[in-house]
Amino acid sequence: MDLAGKHIVLGLTGGIAGYKAAELTRALIKAGATVQVVMTDAATHFITPVTMQALSGKTVYTDQWDARIANNMAHIDLTRHADALIIAPCSADFIAKLAQGRCDDLLSTLCVARPATLPLLIAPAMNIEMWQNAATQRNVQQLVLDGVQVLGPDAGDQACGETGMGRMLEPMQLLDDVIAAFQPKVLLGKRVLITAGPTFEPIDPVRGITNLSSGKMGYALARAAREAGADVTLVSGPTALATPTGVQRINVHTAQQMFDIVLSHVSGQDVFIAVAAVADWRVVNASEQKLKKSAGSALPQLEFALNPDILATVAALPDKPYCVGFAAESEQLLKHGKAKRDRKGIPLLVGNIGHTTFGKDDNELVLFDANTEIHFPRAAKQQLARQLITEISERLLTHIY
Ligand code: C5P
Repeated sequence: MDLAGKHIVLGLTGGIAGYKAAELTRALIKAGATVQVVMTDAATHFITPVTMQALSGKTVYTDQWDARIANNMAHIDLTRHADALIIAPCSADFIAKLAQGRCDDLLSTLCVARPATLPLLIAPAMNIEMWQNAATQRNVQQLVLDGVQVLGPDAGDQACGETGMGRMLEPMQLLDDVIAAFQPKVLLGKRVLITAGPTFEPIDPVRGITNLSSGKMGYALARAAREAGADVTLVSGPTALATPTGVQRINVHTAQQMFDIVLSHVSGQDVFIAVAAVADWRVVNASEQKLKKSAGSALPQLEFALNPDILATVAALPDKPYCVGFAAESEQLLKHGKAKRDRKGIPLLVGNIGHTTFGKDDNELVLFDANTEIHFPRAAKQQLARQLITEISERLLTHIY
Protein backbone atom coordinates (compact mmCIF):
# COMPACT_ATOMS: atom_id res chain seq x y z
CA MET A 1 0.00 0.00 0.00
CA ASP A 2 2.27 2.74 -1.31
CA LEU A 3 -0.18 5.53 -0.39
CA ALA A 4 -1.42 4.17 2.95
CA GLY A 5 -2.73 7.01 5.11
CA LYS A 6 -2.42 9.65 2.40
CA HIS A 7 -5.30 11.99 1.70
CA ILE A 8 -5.45 13.22 -1.86
CA VAL A 9 -7.63 15.95 -3.33
CA LEU A 10 -8.28 15.14 -6.99
CA GLY A 11 -9.50 18.05 -9.11
CA LEU A 12 -11.08 17.50 -12.52
CA THR A 13 -11.35 20.21 -15.16
CA GLY A 14 -13.10 20.01 -18.54
CA GLY A 15 -11.59 17.46 -20.91
CA ILE A 16 -12.37 14.20 -22.63
CA ALA A 17 -9.65 12.58 -20.50
CA GLY A 18 -12.09 12.87 -17.56
CA TYR A 19 -12.82 9.16 -17.90
CA LYS A 20 -9.19 8.44 -16.98
CA ALA A 21 -9.74 10.31 -13.69
CA ALA A 22 -12.28 7.61 -12.78
CA GLU A 23 -9.61 4.94 -13.20
CA LEU A 24 -7.07 7.11 -11.37
CA THR A 25 -9.44 7.41 -8.40
CA ARG A 26 -9.72 3.63 -8.19
CA ALA A 27 -5.95 3.22 -8.46
CA LEU A 28 -5.25 5.81 -5.73
CA ILE A 29 -7.73 4.13 -3.40
CA LYS A 30 -6.30 0.68 -4.15
CA ALA A 31 -2.88 2.06 -3.21
CA GLY A 32 -4.26 3.03 0.21
CA ALA A 33 -5.18 6.71 -0.27
CA THR A 34 -8.44 8.46 0.48
CA VAL A 35 -9.61 10.63 -2.41
CA GLN A 36 -11.68 13.81 -2.23
CA VAL A 37 -12.94 14.78 -5.68
CA VAL A 38 -13.60 18.39 -6.70
CA MET A 39 -14.87 19.18 -10.21
CA THR A 40 -15.23 22.32 -12.28
CA ASP A 41 -18.53 22.92 -14.03
CA ALA A 42 -16.88 22.03 -17.38
CA ALA A 43 -15.64 18.69 -15.95
CA THR A 44 -19.22 17.64 -15.14
CA HIS A 45 -20.03 17.79 -18.88
CA PHE A 46 -17.53 14.95 -19.49
CA ILE A 47 -18.05 12.69 -16.47
CA THR A 48 -20.73 12.93 -13.82
CA PRO A 49 -20.17 13.74 -10.15
CA VAL A 50 -22.30 10.64 -9.43
CA THR A 51 -19.66 8.42 -11.05
CA MET A 52 -16.82 10.11 -9.20
CA GLN A 53 -18.75 9.99 -5.92
CA ALA A 54 -19.44 6.28 -6.29
CA LEU A 55 -15.76 5.57 -7.01
CA SER A 56 -14.31 7.81 -4.32
CA GLY A 57 -16.93 7.01 -1.70
CA LYS A 58 -17.04 10.70 -0.76
CA THR A 59 -19.26 13.65 -1.55
CA VAL A 60 -18.05 15.38 -4.71
CA TYR A 61 -17.86 19.17 -4.58
CA THR A 62 -18.38 21.36 -7.64
CA ASP A 63 -19.74 24.63 -6.31
CA GLN A 64 -18.00 27.43 -4.48
CA TRP A 65 -21.26 28.26 -2.74
CA ASP A 66 -21.98 24.71 -1.57
CA ALA A 67 -23.66 25.10 1.81
CA ARG A 68 -22.86 21.53 2.93
CA ILE A 69 -19.52 22.57 4.38
CA ALA A 70 -19.77 24.56 7.61
CA ASN A 71 -19.35 28.35 7.24
CA ASN A 72 -19.21 27.96 3.41
CA MET A 73 -15.47 27.43 3.70
CA ALA A 74 -15.12 24.59 1.20
CA HIS A 75 -12.21 26.35 -0.51
CA ILE A 76 -10.28 26.29 2.78
CA ASP A 77 -11.50 23.12 4.48
CA LEU A 78 -11.00 20.72 1.58
CA THR A 79 -7.21 21.04 1.46
CA ARG A 80 -6.41 21.45 5.15
CA HIS A 81 -5.83 17.76 5.84
CA ALA A 82 -4.61 16.86 2.36
CA ASP A 83 -1.18 15.42 1.51
CA ALA A 84 -1.34 16.28 -2.21
CA LEU A 85 -3.57 18.12 -4.65
CA ILE A 86 -3.65 16.71 -8.16
CA ILE A 87 -5.53 18.20 -11.12
CA ALA A 88 -6.24 15.53 -13.73
CA PRO A 89 -7.26 16.30 -16.37
CA CYS A 90 -5.93 19.86 -16.30
CA SER A 91 -7.20 22.00 -19.21
CA ALA A 92 -5.37 24.85 -20.98
CA ASP A 93 -7.84 27.26 -19.41
CA PHE A 94 -7.18 25.96 -15.91
CA ILE A 95 -3.41 26.15 -16.46
CA ALA A 96 -3.89 29.80 -17.47
CA LYS A 97 -5.94 30.44 -14.35
CA LEU A 98 -3.36 28.80 -12.11
CA ALA A 99 -0.54 30.80 -13.71
CA GLN A 100 -2.42 34.01 -12.91
CA GLY A 101 -3.65 32.94 -9.48
CA ARG A 102 -7.28 33.51 -10.44
CA CYS A 103 -10.05 32.22 -8.18
CA ASP A 104 -13.39 32.21 -9.96
CA ASP A 105 -14.66 28.75 -9.04
CA LEU A 106 -14.22 26.25 -6.22
CA LEU A 107 -11.27 24.33 -7.70
CA SER A 108 -9.20 27.38 -8.69
CA THR A 109 -9.90 29.01 -5.31
CA LEU A 110 -8.86 25.79 -3.59
CA CYS A 111 -5.53 25.82 -5.44
CA VAL A 112 -4.74 29.40 -4.51
CA ALA A 113 -5.90 28.93 -0.91
CA ARG A 114 -3.95 25.71 -0.39
CA PRO A 115 -1.24 25.62 2.31
CA ALA A 116 2.16 26.58 0.82
CA THR A 117 3.55 23.17 1.77
CA LEU A 118 0.84 21.18 -0.03
CA PRO A 119 2.26 19.75 -3.28
CA LEU A 120 0.26 20.60 -6.41
CA LEU A 121 0.53 18.20 -9.34
CA ILE A 122 -1.16 18.77 -12.69
CA ALA A 123 -1.75 16.38 -15.59
CA PRO A 124 -2.35 18.52 -18.69
CA ALA A 125 -4.83 17.15 -21.24
CA MET A 126 -5.65 19.04 -24.43
CA ASN A 127 -5.42 19.23 -28.21
CA ILE A 128 -1.87 19.43 -29.64
CA GLU A 129 -2.33 23.02 -30.89
CA MET A 130 -3.64 24.15 -27.50
CA TRP A 131 -0.64 22.52 -25.81
CA GLN A 132 1.85 24.06 -28.24
CA ASN A 133 0.22 27.48 -28.11
CA ALA A 134 2.72 30.09 -26.93
CA ALA A 135 0.44 31.26 -24.11
CA THR A 136 0.00 27.70 -22.76
CA GLN A 137 3.74 27.06 -22.89
CA ARG A 138 4.39 30.37 -21.14
CA ASN A 139 1.85 29.48 -18.45
CA VAL A 140 3.33 26.00 -17.94
CA GLN A 141 6.80 27.50 -17.52
CA GLN A 142 5.40 29.87 -14.92
CA LEU A 143 3.81 26.97 -13.03
CA VAL A 144 7.11 25.05 -13.01
CA LEU A 145 8.79 28.15 -11.56
CA ASP A 146 6.02 28.30 -8.97
CA GLY A 147 6.88 24.75 -7.84
CA VAL A 148 3.95 22.98 -9.49
CA GLN A 149 4.79 19.45 -10.73
CA VAL A 150 3.69 19.03 -14.34
CA LEU A 151 3.06 15.36 -15.18
CA GLY A 152 3.21 14.76 -18.94
CA PRO A 153 1.46 15.24 -21.27
CA ASP A 154 2.12 12.31 -23.55
CA ALA A 155 2.14 12.13 -27.35
CA GLY A 156 -0.28 9.97 -29.30
CA ASP A 157 -3.75 9.82 -30.87
CA GLN A 158 -6.12 12.49 -29.63
CA ALA A 159 -9.90 12.42 -29.26
CA CYS A 160 -10.19 15.23 -31.84
CA GLY A 161 -8.60 12.98 -34.49
CA GLU A 162 -5.22 14.75 -34.50
CA THR A 163 -1.99 13.17 -33.28
CA GLY A 164 0.73 14.62 -31.06
CA MET A 165 1.52 16.05 -27.65
CA GLY A 166 -1.37 16.75 -25.32
CA ARG A 167 -2.75 13.36 -24.28
CA MET A 168 -3.14 12.99 -20.55
CA LEU A 169 -0.82 10.37 -19.02
CA GLU A 170 -2.40 6.99 -18.35
CA PRO A 171 -3.85 6.51 -14.84
CA MET A 172 -1.21 3.97 -13.77
CA GLN A 173 1.58 6.31 -14.82
CA LEU A 174 -0.07 9.14 -12.86
CA LEU A 175 -0.33 6.82 -9.87
CA ASP A 176 3.43 6.16 -10.07
CA ASP A 177 4.07 9.90 -10.25
CA VAL A 178 1.91 10.58 -7.19
CA ILE A 179 3.72 7.83 -5.23
CA ALA A 180 7.06 9.25 -6.41
CA ALA A 181 6.07 12.73 -5.19
CA PHE A 182 5.99 11.36 -1.64
CA GLN A 183 9.45 9.74 -1.71
CA PRO A 184 12.40 11.65 -0.20
CA LYS A 185 14.70 12.99 -2.94
CA VAL A 186 17.84 11.37 -1.53
CA LEU A 187 19.48 10.89 -4.96
CA LEU A 188 18.58 14.24 -6.48
CA GLY A 189 21.04 15.14 -9.23
CA LYS A 190 22.73 11.71 -9.12
CA ARG A 191 23.12 9.37 -12.09
CA VAL A 192 22.38 5.69 -11.56
CA LEU A 193 23.09 2.83 -13.97
CA ILE A 194 21.32 -0.49 -13.33
CA THR A 195 21.43 -3.90 -15.02
CA ALA A 196 18.39 -6.14 -14.68
CA GLY A 197 16.75 -9.32 -15.89
CA PRO A 198 18.29 -12.43 -17.42
CA THR A 199 20.57 -12.57 -20.43
CA PHE A 200 19.89 -14.75 -23.47
CA GLU A 201 22.75 -16.58 -25.15
CA PRO A 202 21.76 -17.88 -28.60
CA ILE A 203 22.31 -21.46 -29.75
CA ASP A 204 20.72 -20.80 -33.13
CA PRO A 205 18.28 -18.12 -34.44
CA VAL A 206 15.36 -19.51 -32.39
CA ARG A 207 16.97 -21.20 -29.40
CA GLY A 208 19.12 -20.04 -26.55
CA ILE A 209 20.26 -20.36 -22.95
CA THR A 210 18.70 -18.13 -20.34
CA ASN A 211 17.69 -18.24 -16.65
CA LEU A 212 14.69 -17.66 -14.38
CA SER A 213 15.37 -14.01 -13.51
CA SER A 214 12.17 -11.96 -13.98
CA GLY A 215 13.90 -8.58 -13.65
CA LYS A 216 11.49 -7.48 -10.89
CA MET A 217 14.15 -6.52 -8.32
CA GLY A 218 16.20 -4.53 -10.85
CA TYR A 219 13.13 -2.74 -12.18
CA ALA A 220 11.98 -1.99 -8.61
CA LEU A 221 15.41 -0.44 -7.94
CA ALA A 222 15.25 1.60 -11.14
CA ARG A 223 11.87 2.93 -10.08
CA ALA A 224 13.01 3.64 -6.51
CA ALA A 225 16.13 5.46 -7.74
CA ARG A 226 13.99 7.55 -10.08
CA GLU A 227 11.53 8.31 -7.27
CA ALA A 228 14.51 9.46 -5.21
CA GLY A 229 15.30 12.05 -7.89
CA ALA A 230 18.08 10.22 -9.82
CA ASP A 231 18.63 10.17 -13.56
CA VAL A 232 18.32 6.41 -14.19
CA THR A 233 19.54 4.23 -17.06
CA LEU A 234 18.31 0.64 -17.00
CA VAL A 235 20.14 -1.93 -19.13
CA SER A 236 17.73 -4.81 -19.35
CA GLY A 237 17.82 -8.36 -20.62
CA PRO A 238 14.58 -9.80 -22.04
CA THR A 239 11.68 -9.31 -19.57
CA ALA A 240 7.93 -8.85 -19.75
CA LEU A 241 8.03 -5.81 -17.42
CA ALA A 242 6.94 -2.25 -18.19
CA THR A 243 9.65 0.41 -18.07
CA PRO A 244 9.32 2.41 -14.82
CA THR A 245 8.12 5.98 -15.38
CA GLY A 246 10.94 8.40 -16.18
CA VAL A 247 13.61 5.70 -16.58
CA GLN A 248 15.73 5.38 -19.73
CA ARG A 249 15.76 1.71 -20.72
CA ILE A 250 18.19 0.02 -23.12
CA ASN A 251 17.30 -3.53 -24.18
CA VAL A 252 19.96 -6.19 -24.70
CA HIS A 253 19.99 -9.95 -25.13
CA THR A 254 23.47 -11.30 -24.52
CA ALA A 255 25.97 -10.77 -21.70
CA GLN A 256 28.41 -9.30 -24.22
CA GLN A 257 25.80 -6.73 -25.37
CA MET A 258 25.07 -5.88 -21.71
CA PHE A 259 28.81 -5.48 -21.09
CA ASP A 260 29.23 -3.19 -24.14
CA ILE A 261 26.25 -0.98 -23.25
CA VAL A 262 27.27 -0.68 -19.59
CA LEU A 263 30.86 0.20 -20.48
CA SER A 264 29.72 2.84 -22.98
CA HIS A 265 27.34 4.44 -20.43
CA VAL A 266 29.33 4.17 -17.20
CA SER A 267 31.29 7.40 -17.50
CA GLY A 268 29.78 10.11 -15.28
CA GLN A 269 27.56 7.68 -13.33
CA ASP A 270 27.46 8.06 -9.54
CA VAL A 271 26.12 4.58 -8.80
CA PHE A 272 26.20 1.23 -10.64
CA ILE A 273 23.83 -1.49 -9.40
CA ALA A 274 24.33 -4.88 -11.06
CA VAL A 275 21.14 -6.83 -10.50
CA ALA A 276 21.07 -8.77 -13.78
CA ALA A 277 21.49 -12.54 -13.68
CA VAL A 278 24.22 -12.58 -16.30
CA ALA A 279 24.99 -15.88 -18.04
CA ASP A 280 28.43 -17.11 -17.08
CA TRP A 281 29.01 -18.79 -20.45
CA ARG A 282 28.06 -18.12 -24.07
CA VAL A 283 27.91 -20.55 -26.96
CA VAL A 284 30.77 -19.82 -29.34
CA ASN A 285 29.63 -22.12 -32.12
CA ALA A 286 26.03 -20.84 -32.32
CA SER A 287 24.49 -21.78 -35.66
CA GLU A 288 23.38 -19.08 -38.11
CA GLN A 289 20.61 -21.38 -39.34
CA LYS A 290 18.08 -23.24 -37.21
CA LEU A 291 19.55 -26.59 -36.14
CA LYS A 292 17.55 -29.44 -37.71
CA LYS A 293 16.48 -32.52 -35.84
CA SER A 294 16.56 -35.40 -38.27
CA ALA A 295 16.58 -39.11 -37.53
CA GLY A 296 20.06 -40.50 -37.19
CA SER A 297 21.84 -37.10 -37.35
CA ALA A 298 24.45 -36.29 -34.72
CA LEU A 299 23.42 -34.32 -31.63
CA PRO A 300 24.60 -30.69 -31.61
CA GLN A 301 27.90 -30.19 -29.81
CA LEU A 302 27.90 -26.83 -28.06
CA GLU A 303 31.18 -25.12 -27.18
CA PHE A 304 31.27 -22.50 -24.45
CA ALA A 305 33.39 -19.47 -23.62
CA LEU A 306 33.42 -17.44 -20.41
CA ASN A 307 31.46 -14.15 -20.51
CA PRO A 308 33.09 -10.96 -19.25
CA ASP A 309 32.24 -10.02 -15.64
CA ILE A 310 30.47 -6.67 -16.03
CA LEU A 311 30.44 -5.74 -12.34
CA ALA A 312 34.08 -6.65 -11.68
CA THR A 313 35.15 -4.72 -14.80
CA VAL A 314 33.25 -1.57 -13.72
CA ALA A 315 34.54 -1.91 -10.15
CA ALA A 316 38.13 -1.92 -11.48
CA LEU A 317 37.77 1.31 -13.48
CA PRO A 318 39.91 4.20 -12.19
CA ASP A 319 36.92 6.58 -12.12
CA LYS A 320 34.39 3.99 -10.94
CA PRO A 321 30.91 4.78 -9.64
CA TYR A 322 29.74 3.42 -6.26
CA CYS A 323 29.24 -0.27 -7.15
CA VAL A 324 26.57 -2.57 -5.75
CA GLY A 325 26.31 -6.28 -6.60
CA PHE A 326 23.72 -8.97 -5.99
CA ALA A 327 24.19 -12.59 -5.03
CA ALA A 328 21.71 -15.44 -5.31
CA GLU A 329 23.39 -18.36 -3.54
CA SER A 330 21.70 -21.68 -2.99
CA GLU A 331 23.73 -22.36 0.21
CA GLN A 332 25.97 -20.65 2.79
CA LEU A 333 24.91 -17.15 1.74
CA LEU A 334 26.87 -15.40 4.50
CA LYS A 335 30.16 -17.10 3.64
CA HIS A 336 29.76 -16.88 -0.14
CA GLY A 337 28.30 -13.36 0.00
CA LYS A 338 31.28 -11.87 1.83
CA ALA A 339 33.72 -13.71 -0.41
CA LYS A 340 31.92 -12.46 -3.51
CA ARG A 341 32.05 -8.87 -2.28
CA ASP A 342 35.83 -9.11 -1.92
CA ARG A 343 36.32 -10.99 -5.18
CA LYS A 344 34.35 -8.42 -7.18
CA GLY A 345 36.11 -5.53 -5.44
CA ILE A 346 32.85 -3.76 -4.57
CA PRO A 347 31.84 -1.81 -1.46
CA LEU A 348 28.33 -3.27 -1.12
CA LEU A 349 26.92 -6.71 -1.89
CA VAL A 350 23.25 -7.59 -1.50
CA GLY A 351 22.37 -11.22 -0.86
CA ASN A 352 18.97 -12.68 -1.73
CA ILE A 353 18.02 -14.89 1.19
CA GLY A 354 16.83 -18.05 -0.53
CA HIS A 355 17.56 -18.52 -4.20
CA THR A 356 13.86 -19.09 -4.99
CA THR A 357 13.17 -15.36 -5.16
CA PHE A 358 13.08 -15.42 -8.99
CA GLY A 359 9.77 -14.11 -10.34
CA LYS A 360 8.27 -13.38 -6.91
CA ASP A 361 6.99 -9.97 -5.79
CA ASP A 362 8.65 -10.16 -2.40
CA ASN A 363 12.12 -10.92 -1.15
CA GLU A 364 14.38 -10.96 1.91
CA LEU A 365 17.82 -9.40 1.73
CA VAL A 366 21.08 -9.13 3.62
CA LEU A 367 23.53 -6.31 2.88
CA PHE A 368 27.26 -6.83 3.31
CA ASP A 369 29.60 -3.87 3.37
CA ALA A 370 33.08 -3.44 4.87
CA ASN A 371 31.89 -3.40 8.47
CA THR A 372 28.28 -4.42 8.73
CA GLU A 373 25.63 -6.92 7.80
CA ILE A 374 22.16 -5.45 7.57
CA HIS A 375 19.12 -7.67 7.37
CA PHE A 376 16.03 -6.47 5.46
CA PRO A 377 13.14 -8.74 6.55
CA ARG A 378 10.77 -10.16 3.92
CA ALA A 379 8.81 -7.41 2.17
CA ALA A 380 7.60 -6.36 -1.27
CA LYS A 381 10.51 -5.90 -3.70
CA GLN A 382 9.45 -2.28 -4.28
CA GLN A 383 9.67 -1.55 -0.56
CA LEU A 384 13.05 -3.29 -0.27
CA ALA A 385 14.26 -1.33 -3.28
CA ARG A 386 13.37 1.95 -1.55
CA GLN A 387 15.19 0.82 1.61
CA LEU A 388 18.24 -0.14 -0.41
CA ILE A 389 18.26 3.20 -2.25
CA THR A 390 18.21 4.95 1.15
CA GLU A 391 21.21 2.85 2.30
CA ILE A 392 23.11 3.65 -0.90
CA SER A 393 22.35 7.38 -0.63
CA GLU A 394 23.67 7.44 2.96
CA ARG A 395 26.92 5.76 1.86
CA LEU A 396 27.30 8.28 -0.97
CA LEU A 397 26.84 11.13 1.51
CA THR A 398 29.33 9.85 4.04
CA HIS A 399 31.76 8.43 1.45
CA ILE A 400 31.94 5.21 3.49
CA TYR A 401 32.78 2.84 0.66
O1 C5P B 1 29.63 -13.99 -10.10
P1 C5P B 1 28.16 -13.97 -9.82
O2 C5P B 1 27.32 -14.16 -11.08
O3 C5P B 1 27.72 -14.88 -8.75
O4 C5P B 1 27.91 -12.48 -9.27
C1 C5P B 1 26.65 -11.89 -9.23
C2 C5P B 1 26.79 -10.40 -9.35
O5 C5P B 1 27.70 -10.04 -10.41
C3 C5P B 1 25.50 -9.74 -9.75
O6 C5P B 1 25.52 -8.43 -9.23
C4 C5P B 1 25.56 -9.73 -11.26
O7 C5P B 1 24.73 -8.74 -11.85
C5 C5P B 1 27.04 -9.45 -11.51
N1 C5P B 1 27.58 -10.08 -12.73
C6 C5P B 1 28.03 -9.30 -13.79
N2 C5P B 1 28.59 -9.88 -14.88
C7 C5P B 1 28.71 -11.22 -14.97
C8 C5P B 1 28.27 -12.04 -13.92
C9 C5P B 1 27.70 -11.43 -12.81
O8 C5P B 1 27.90 -8.06 -13.71
N3 C5P B 1 29.24 -11.76 -16.05
